[in-house]
Amino acid sequence: MKNVGIIGCGDISGIYIKNLKGMFAEKVNVAGVCDVRRERALSRLTEYSAGKLYASAEELLADPAVDIAVNLTRPHEHFAVTRAALAAGKHVYSEKPLGATPEEGAELAALAEEKGLLLGCAPDTFLGAGIQTCRKLIDDGRIGDVVAASAFMTCRGHESWHPDPEFYYKKGGGPMLDMGPYYITALVALLGPVCAVSGVVKTSFATRTITSREKYGTEVIVDTPTHLAGTVEFECGAVGTVITSFDVHAAQLPKIEIYGSEGTLSVPDPNTFGGPVKLYLPQDGAFREQPLLYRYCENSRGLGVYDMVCHMEDGSPLRVGAPLALHALEVMTGFERSYNSGKYVQLGAKPPRPAPLEALLAT
Ligand SMILES: NC(=O)c1ccc[n+]([C@@H]2O[C@H](COP(=O)([O-])OP(=O)(O)OC[C@H]3O[C@@H](n4cnc5c(N)ncnc54)[C@H](O)[C@@H]3O)[C@@H](O)[C@H]2O)c1
Repeated sequence: MKNVGIIGCGDISGIYIKNLKGMFAEKVNVAGVCDVRRERALSRLTEYSAGKLYASAEELLADPAVDIAVNLTRPHEHFAVTRAALAAGKHVYSEKPLGATPEEGAELAALAEEKGLLLGCAPDTFLGAGIQTCRKLIDDGRIGDVVAASAFMTCRGHESWHPDPEFYYKKGGGPMLDMGPYYITALVALLGPVCAVSGVVKTSFATRTITSREKYGTEVIVDTPTHLAGTVEFECGAVGTVITSFDVHAAQLPKIEIYGSEGTLSVPDPNTFGGPVKLYLPQDGAFREQPLLYRYCENSRGLGVYDMVCHMEDGSPLRVGAPLALHALEVMTGFERSYNSGKYVQLGAKPPRPAPLEALLAT
């Protein structure tokens, strides 16, 4: 059993606390919560009986009872909070991305290593039943040799629903660092690491107007590209095409497809844990839905924290560790680096694919 302390009680914190106290309670205890906006922490505490109310992150990190700090702050705040937690001797699980730049991510990974601490990072959706089933189908050779992949995430941004959406348009935000982690991590989990990327990026609209309730009418200055088109060369030889955009009203694109020598795999939304997984084989002449072979079909956010705790307690493989998150961060920021430099960007360290989970059902 490990004690976790939640830093940041905003929009996403509810499902984390609910799942850590429910689905993962066998190995995880929520010791307490904090937020610079005290009323938010208090509201989560009341709603979920989430342990103790800490006055600040500093107070939470000074508590010897806390084993793992779960960093649910905004992307541009991840680095400082994670660094402080590691410096205080805590293991950390951070929401994505690991940092706003690869340099920030690398510094955090090095600090964790130096201190002998674990550093895990979201997303954990690739551990869900949908993507694990896709992985098994690929590993079992059902689509033959992988030729190519495509990944598309298009929407018109988050200002219509998120109560405080400014961070999506600031450093560490944008559609690639916000939604890209789901897509890039899923692709790496399915196909292995990336060797090189190239990209074109664009900021289509200089400002955004918030239309969600709390900050209705507030204008946000956009400081990050909001449309990105990239190509990805995988070490396995497959070629990927990626679009992430906050500038598109509607599209009829798939989320992720993997094209093989023997068929095509339609991968479910990597921002979810379940299906549908669909397989096209020429002999069938149509996409056929496949049974999900793993657990975690429902919203299982917090599964990454559980993965870390299992690794600490029984030595099972750590799937959500810093090498994967750092690789994803290098890929995601590589598109913009390529555009700014006019060059194809070669990637550095290439982590192995994270270990698969154990299947529930036999194929
Ligand atoms: N909202 C979603 O649907 C969603 C989904 C998946 C992942 N995420 C990720 O989760 C993270 C948080 O997103 P969110 O939507 O919950 O943001 P949010 O702005 O709603 O909440 C972040 C909270 O962190 C608090 N905070 C910031 N610095 C702090 C500090 N030093 N100490 C204590 N509290 C601090 C803020 O006051 C705020 O309440 C982001 O990385 C985001 O990408 C969000």
